Amino acid sequence: MCGIVGYIGEQPAYDVLIKGLHRLEYRGYDSAGVALLSPDGELNIYKTRGKVDDLERFCESKDVSGNVGIAHTRWATHGEPNDVNAHPHFSCSGRLALVHNGTIENYNVLKTALELQGCTFRSETDTEVLVQLIEYVKETNDCSLVDAVREALKEVIGAYAIAVIDVNDPDMIIGARKSSPLVIGIGDNETFLASDATPIIEFTNKVVYLNDDEIAIIKKGQPLQIISTDNRPAEIDIKTLRMSVSQLEKGGYPHFMLKEIFEQPRTIHDCIRGRVGSKGATVTLSGVIENKDRFLNAHRIIIVACGTSWHAGLIGKRLIQEIARIPVEVEYASEFRYSNPVLTDRDIVIAISQSGETADTLAAIQMARKCGAFVYGICNVVGSSIARATDSGTYIHVGPEIGVASTKAFTGQVTVLSMLALAIGQLKGSVKPGVAEEITSSLRRLPDLIKQALKLNESIEQLSGIYTYVHNFLYLGRGFNYPSALEGALKLKEISYIHAEGYPAAEMKHGPIALIDHELPTVVIAPNDELHEKIISNIQQVKARGGSVIAVVTKGDTTIADIADHILEIPEVAEPLSPVIVSIPLQLLAYHIAIKKGCNVDMPRNLAKSVTVE
Ligand code: G6P
Repeated sequence: MCGIVGYIGEQPAYDVLIKGLHRLEYRGYDSAGVALLSPDGELNIYKTRGKVDDLERFCESKDVSGNVGIAHTRWATHGEPNDVNAHPHFSCSGRLALVHNGTIENYNVLKTALELQGCTFRSETDTEVLVQLIEYVKETNDCSLVDAVREALKEVIGAYAIAVIDVNDPDMIIGARKSSPLVIGIGDNETFLASDATPIIEFTNKVVYLNDDEIAIIKKGQPLQIISTDNRPAEIDIKTLRMSVSQLEKGGYPHFMLKEIFEQPRTIHDCIRGRVGSKGATVTLSGVIENKDRFLNAHRIIIVACGTSWHAGLIGKRLIQEIARIPVEVEYASEFRYSNPVLTDRDIVIAISQSGETADTLAAIQMARKCGAFVYGICNVVGSSIARATDSGTYIHVGPEIGVASTKAFTGQVTVLSMLALAIGQLKGSVKPGVAEEITSSLRRLPDLIKQALKLNESIEQLSGIYTYVHNFLYLGRGFNYPSALEGALKLKEISYIHAEGYPAAEMKHGPIALIDHELPTVVIAPNDELHEKIISNIQQVKARGGSVIAVVTKGDTTIADIADHILEIPEVAEPLSPVIVSIPLQLLAYHIAIKKGCNVDMPRNLAKSVTVE
């Protein structure tokens, strides 16, 4: 949540920062701002409510000169999204400017103490406390900016990634992190700093991930220096990124979400590459091989995640239990971390996160590791905090996901979970005859099956016209596809603001059935599987009460075609992998309804892609 970016070098800083903010806008888009150190020694701060485009318009006639600056795009936590609460925040004297991602928990105590010392606060944010505190420490101790940041951070409780500039030290940016991500890009005579690598990759692929309690001292024309908050020099570990700029662009699609939906044949291909061979029925996951004994001795697996990743976790539970025969629990990371769980070193905690930065998931991992559990990560963003905080893991390798509603990451997560289940099952010898062959051959066919499912796009676009203005939707599924129903409903509500509820189909009669009438459409996920007959009865129950039914069925299913109002035919696929194929029409349905309603699908209101606050 919130994106920060900083630049020091020879290019016009404003251009680099604005481009960077656009790349980071998925992290929040309530307000945006920039602080620039001009060549004539001025600190120019421009900020406004709204998106980065609004900031650009606001800056049209302003002095945006200078080669040093910091910028921010906000997802509001403390204080409403207005011009005053927008970052950068500046100190009482106006000499320091600061941007922040995270939450300062003891800001009220600090604010009161600073007010007693004569500081005047302008905003309602927790962030302003940081810049005022740094200035207060700097002035009372008559010390350098680095020392002031270091000392000030000792007083702070909470999460932060910050960047600070000082008009009196115009060739320097100070960055620091604790529990919120910060990446430094090392170019030729220029240095970048950002919440993730997306604003940096266009200029350099050499990056350093700052660790918790580290402070980066970035000086023009000088090598990067990193120290710990207790003033010891820290190691500078330069990594080379493999991301490309084209992955961060829309590639001719009107929205990132549509691009990401259509990318799935390729992303799933990338996800299984090197893990499932072109022949044979084995899966190779290095994380499982390297930790063979952990998996062989596991008593229990607990999956922790949030949002869409949690839905993937529910599918993972069925996959692992069914194939590897290990009991699995799935927990919301936010609940798990405060639940005082009973954990031992025979437990494996699997953390699933697209961004690898979700605060609750990260905290759940830290807690699980303290209790002695082995923690395995399933992340998308390479080098992210969760990927680094886990003992081992498997990347989903679907490339940057920019649309706030997760699509290709979800199918990548389910694909990795199916491979993980099989890899553990093969290790344990628990895989039933024929299952490994069925799963591996379906995994190989997945990209092609997704391509076939994507052909539904036009018919779904037409169908969406019928349902654009309904107020509620029900999604039903059973077995492997009960989580698909939850995910389908989540997609719709996230981007179209239509209330939608996902339910296990058979549970409908214990409550939601009371809602059914001609105004409540029900999406029923009913591919050919073990429970097919049962779900047909559930469809009949909806129809008998005047509800309309959109059914996702396996091609050639004439029984459901005769009862449902609309059918969306998907190709035949092995039951454990059916959630991957089913999710394609559900993603497209949510997308087209939202577009018809005129919603901003890539930046839905109030949401952010990377949730780095509790
Ligand atoms: C936010 C995003 C969701 C995502 C969830 C968990 O709510 O909008 O798309 O599923 O966070 O994020 P993670 O990065 O941990 O998967």
